[in-house]
Amino acid sequence: MHHEVSLIATVAVSFVFAAVFGYLADRLRLPPLVGYLVAGILIGPITPGFIADAALAGQLAEMGVILLMFGVGLHFSASELLAVRGIAIPGAIVQIVLATLLGVGLASLWGWGIGAGLVFGLSLSVASTVVLLKALEERNQVNSANGRVAVGWLIVEDLAMVLALVLLPALAEILGAHPAAGTAIGAAAGGMPIALTIAMTLLKVAAFAVMAIFLGPKVVPWLLTLVARTGSPELFTLSVLAIALGIAFGATEFFGVSFALGAFFAGVVMSESNLSHRAAADSLPLQNAFSVLFFISVGMLFDPSILLREPIAVMAALALIIFGKSVIASLIVLVLRFPVGMSLSVAASLAQIGEFSFILAGLGVSLGLLPKEGQDIILAGAILSITLNPLVFMAAEALEKGLHYKWPSFATGYGRRRHDVLVRELGDIRAINDERNRQHQLKMQQLIDTFPLFAQVDEHSQEELLLLFRPKSASPGERVVRVGDRGDGMYFIASGVVEVELEDENVRLEAGAFFGEMALLTGGRRTADVIAIDFCEFLVLERRDFNVFMSRHPALRTAVSNMARERTEMNVLRRSRDQSS
Ligand code: CMP
Repeated sequence: MHHEVSLIATVAVSFVFAAVFGYLADRLRLPPLVGYLVAGILIGPITPGFIADAALAGQLAEMGVILLMFGVGLHFSASELLAVRGIAIPGAIVQIVLATLLGVGLASLWGWGIGAGLVFGLSLSVASTVVLLKALEERNQVNSANGRVAVGWLIVEDLAMVLALVLLPALAEILGAHPAAGTAIGAAAGGMPIALTIAMTLLKVAAFAVMAIFLGPKVVPWLLTLVARTGSPELFTLSVLAIALGIAFGATEFFGVSFALGAFFAGVVMSESNLSHRAAADSLPLQNAFSVLFFISVGMLFDPSILLREPIAVMAALALIIFGKSVIASLIVLVLRFPVGMSLSVAASLAQIGEFSFILAGLGVSLGLLPKEGQDIILAGAILSITLNPLVFMAAEALEKGLHYKWPSFATGYGRRRHDVLVRELGDIRAINDERNRQHQLKMQQLIDTFPLFAQVDEHSQEELLLLFRPKSASPGERVVRVGDRGDGMYFIASGVVEVELEDENVRLEAGAFFGEMALLTGGRRTADVIAIDFCEFLVLERRDFNVFMSRHPALRTAVSNMARERTEMNVLRRSRDQSS
């Protein structure tokens, strides 16, 4: 009996089952994701007991893909993506074509038509983002050259899938779908709309890319800075998620780009900001939680009876995914003159299928192109290849070791040159990014060194201060603050010397000191003139920012107030001394 459950029940039961079975899997020395898949099967419709809502779980899984791809984008700069294009673009395209042809061949053995074969082959040709990233993460390879190439390859596959998903419905009739009516009209007009569909799709993807490349790096870091200046941590996290999910959703809605790709570019664009590490830290917990839901939803879709109904077909599909695709991918990498190690690592990364395959298979069935068993075989292939993926990695590593042992000169020498060039290029990009981070850290350090006052606020608040400060300079003799004016800001002296002109004598203030706090604290007028004695550089905290920041850091406010009180007392004392003399 169908049992409707709420969103909360689905999430709660998924998390509980995933946690329990993930832990058990770990105890059995299996990767946790095997536990998640089992949890998915248990709460799916096949097994008795609790049945979670598959449609909801699917959407939650999509959230996992979005957040995960966003996370990858955050650690991936646009220049890194360009650096691996020479291998990722030809690699992904040739691999998709060859793997699809293998799929068509296999399907024709089973007597399926060309349309069914095409959907089947395409489904087997694309790897799962989630599985690939989890595998790279586990091996600490996301940032290695091999990891960069694998991710770049995946991005190209993703783009190809966008095109495939748009083209399939347009080509369905030519490919032998069985629509209800109106075949002749569709076929006759077929040539024109298809060309138009391709052109429109490419145009939309290009429009998205242009926006992501030119507009994104200007708007997104600016927005983040704007929000970070408010100092509210929840507003910052919220904005990071709003940007990630908003761009992913907008990309799909307006540009026909996939959620995953949209989210990836949102991350790439955000990686340009100094605040990207904070964005990454903020979104990581959600990323982890939702990517678990991805495996749960795969488990839920799985119908184990297919293993009994079509064992040979499932094995054939699995062989195509694990062996066929690996051999093709590793040969392509070798033909492009990259080393054996990279070829094996990329091959293992791609020897599985996942979310795109389900989407394609679902579309194929709804268009009447793919038989229902086709979809079940693809799902079985996915769940088995995901489970076996860690073994494939181990086999690849063993093979690499064996090759090193048997043919050391081939294993170490072949493709070295191109590999080294790529590693150097990626290294240079990394060095530039690291330098940017270092500069940022240095600025923070300088801030504390110059103004020990700020050592008492936490790191996020120090960062916020850097964003709030307006730089200002003054030449010798320039009046920086005029007595009787309204207080517009508090001045921190980064370099130079100023003189506070009191009635009888002047007080000198040097780098590290501050002034202009009194009028802000009292809400009254400036109590003295402040004149620059030499070239000065100030960091100015404007009145509004001063009020917000001080209200959130009472200790700082007390320190500044104490100083203001001391100064006032000193001035009063001086005045009374003057009057009595
Ligand atoms: P504000 O009144 O806003 O503008 C003039 C500033 O001069 C004042 O804040 C203090 O920061 C600074 N100031 C006033 N009196 C003294 C003092 N005795 N010693 C050092 N600085 C002072």
